[in-house]
Amino acid sequence: MNDILPGEVETWQFLEEQARRIFGTYGFSEIRVPVVEKTELFCRSIGETTDIVEKEMYTFNDKSDNSLTLRPEGTAPVMRSFIQNKLHTKDPVAKLYYMGPMFRYERPQKGRYRQFHQIGAEVIGVEDAKIDAQVLTMLAHYFDAVGIQDVELQLNSLGCPECRPAYRQALTSFLEAHLEALCDDCRRRYQTNPLRVLDCKVPGCKEATAEAPSVLDHLCGGCDDHFGKVQGYLHDVGTPFTINARMVRGLDYYSKTTFEMVTNSLGSQNAVAAGGRYDGLIKDLGGPPLSGIGFAMGVERLALMKGEGRIEPGRPDLFLATLGDDPARYAFGLMTRLQRRGLHAEMDYEGKSLKSQLRRADKLQARRVLIIGGDELARGEAQLRTMETSSQETISLEGIENLLLAGLTPAS
Ligand code: HAM
Repeated sequence: MNDILPGEVETWQFLEEQARRIFGTYGFSEIRVPVVEKTELFCRSIGETTDIVEKEMYTFNDKSDNSLTLRPEGTAPVMRSFIQNKLHTKDPVAKLYYMGPMFRYERPQKGRYRQFHQIGAEVIGVEDAKIDAQVLTMLAHYFDAVGIQDVELQLNSLGCPECRPAYRQALTSFLEAHLEALCDDCRRRYQTNPLRVLDCKVPGCKEATAEAPSVLDHLCGGCDDHFGKVQGYLHDVGTPFTINARMVRGLDYYSKTTFEMVTNSLGSQNAVAAGGRYDGLIKDLGGPPLSGIGFAMGVERLALMKGEGRIEPGRPDLFLATLGDDPARYAFGLMTRLQRRGLHAEMDYEGKSLKSQLRRADKLQARRVLIIGGDELARGEAQLRTMETSSQETISLEGIENLLLAGLTPAS
């Protein structure tokens, strides 16, 4: 679990602001849900046999002996809120986004943490493939807008409750014939969650499943048609993607379209964003039979990828350096008036030497320094130094507030 410190936080704010801006143009509103939910919500939605539910949840009993869990992801809490607040009665289509911390007890490594942050988006109430293409296009648009290029959008379909059992059966039969070649974990989960075997990183398992049946060859007519339409709409609007029929998701609620935004630049944690359609989830959780689709991006991973292009902390427009008590008092008043009117102004609060004040102005990379001495103040003047040009001039303090706010260098 990490602290996000000044110097890093500017990149986070940028990533969040861009999400608000871009998701807003696609008609999404923010929803804020608690970080704690009943444990049962995650067991029912993510699935009892997933790694998240089996091993990674921060679960505890509260003082009334209710089993609660720190949310490991955002989709289930948003669906819980959608159902509880009957949002479908207010609008047949809900476009919601959220951002905030999630918790998974995973082995930490670069790009993988126990408290991490997601920015996610969900659309509820539209079954048409246009919405799949729209959500994917918005995701691609976001990556473009924040300047993260080294990514590929991979697409798959996991079928529906109608066609998945047959695929599951075909896959289980195939795995049965290759059991000796699989690792212990896969030998255990080939019956409980056979799709996960396709995702195993152990080289022996990868090799053994190279010829495994493809989910795309087992889609029913409806799923096949939907998948074809999603691709057609993506072509129409020029959103690039590749097909990855081996993509498996670590959560059980998906049906039809699934996708990941992957990169090679983060080592083994190669998914920067991921999501898909979950047409049965809302009904399973006790809500109306509405379909849904969405994604979540890992903010730590986005920030790591932003790397060199990081956003720098704001620089002061003005640093007020003073010599003596009266100038310090005058400067304090001027600084406060400027700050109230939106100028980023700083000063030394503690009467340090002029040399140390100028050093601090330098360290903060102030654009200008206003140096006010006692005699000068009595004359109604000060020295204005512009750091970029290293020029310094005497200026009158009369009307200085407006001049500084207008960003003008007054005539000397
Ligand atoms: P997920 O694939 O579990 O999906 O997580 C989405 C993204 O969160 C990942 O691609 C990754 O960038 C980030 N992430 C996950 N775990 C960690 C971690 N331990 N440390 C850092 N980053 C991590 C979901 O959570 C689904 N709720 C996405 C979704 C929304 N599907 C439909 N709507």
